[in-house]
Amino acid sequence: MLDTYNRPVISMRISITPRCNLNCIYCHHEGITGSSKYEMTPEEIVRICALSARHGIRKIKITGGEPLLREDVIEIVDGISKIEGIEDVSMTTNGTLLEGLAGELKAAGLNRVNVSLDTLRPDVFSMISRGGELDTVLRGLNRAAEVGLMPVKLNMVVMNGINDDEIESILKRYPKGGFVIQLIELMDAEHDSEFFSKYFYDLDEVEKGFEEQADDVYVRKFMQGRRKYVLNGSEVEIIKPMHNTEFCARCTRIRVTADGKFKPCLMRSDNLVDFLTPMRNGADDSELDRLFREAVSRRKPYFRDG
Ligand code: 5AD
Repeated sequence: MLDTYNRPVISMRISITPRCNLNCIYCHHEGITGSSKYEMTPEEIVRICALSARHGIRKIKITGGEPLLREDVIEIVDGISKIEGIEDVSMTTNGTLLEGLAGELKAAGLNRVNVSLDTLRPDVFSMISRGGELDTVLRGLNRAAEVGLMPVKLNMVVMNGINDDEIESILKRYPKGGFVIQLIELMDAEHDSEFFSKYFYDLDEVEKGFEEQADDVYVRKFMQGRRKYVLNGSEVEIIKPMHNTEFCARCTRIRVTADGKFKPCLMRSDNLVDFLTPMRNGADDSELDRLFREAVSRRKPYFRDG
C-alpha cells in the first residue's frame, strides 16, 4: 500500500509491552509519552499483524519496552511467524533475557534480533541503563548468534562524551557474518532539548572516515536509503534520523503501540488511530481495514523540505 507521499508501507514495528527492566537515559520509549500499562493479548496482536500483512506489510519487528518480559512472547512470535505474506520477523531487545530464550525464539520462527549495545564498559553500561549488568547482555547476544538469530544487529546510540570513543572497539569485537553494527545518532523524540544538545554526537565525520576506508559500500533500498559499510571485517550502518529529509522520504514503516493504536510516525503522538477499542467492541475485519487505511493516510514525512 502506498501512502499519500508515494511511500510503500511494508514494515511494521509493534510494541508488545511498555514494561522494561532497564531505564536507559536516552530511551525514546518508541515515541510514547505517559505511562499506559496496557498490553494486547497474543490473539489481538496476531490478528492485527495478519490484517496488516493483507495490506502489504512484509516485515514485522517486535519491540517494547522489553518484549522478552512477556511470559507469552514465544506464543506471540510463533503466531506472527506463521502469518502468510510475512517474510521477516525480528525483535529489538535489550538482551538481558536473551541467553535463556534465544533457542526457543528461533524455534518459534524469529529470524533475527537487534540488541542494544552502546558500550563494552560495565560501569558505563550500568550508568546508561541505570543499573543493568553488561555481562548478561553480552552472553545473550552471543547465544543469539549461536542459535542462528542472525545477523545479530547491535544498536549503538553514540553519545557525546559517553561512548563516542568506543566505536572502533565494538566494530573490532563483532565481525561480519554474525553481526552488523548500527551506529545511531541520538534522537530527540522526547523533545528534551537539554539532554539532546548535551549528548548529541554527529556521525558525519565517522561516516567520512568509513567512506575512505571501506572495502564495500551498499545502499539499502527500503531502509531509508541507509548505507552499509564493510571495513576491516566488520559490517556497519550509520543511522541519522534527525532533520534528515531523505530518511523520512524513504520511510516504509508504520508502528503499533502496546495499547493497540496505529502510530504513523515515531516523532508524533497527535495522530494515532485506536483499533483495540473497536476490536474489543467486536469490530469486523472490514472496520479494522478501514482503520489501517486511515493510519496510512495520516503518514506524513516529519522532516521535509520547505
Ligand atoms: N535515539 C536514538 N535511538 C534510540 N533508541 C531508543 N531511544 C533512542 C534515541 N533517543 C533505539 C536504540 C534501541 C532501540 C529500541 O531504539 O537503538 O536499541
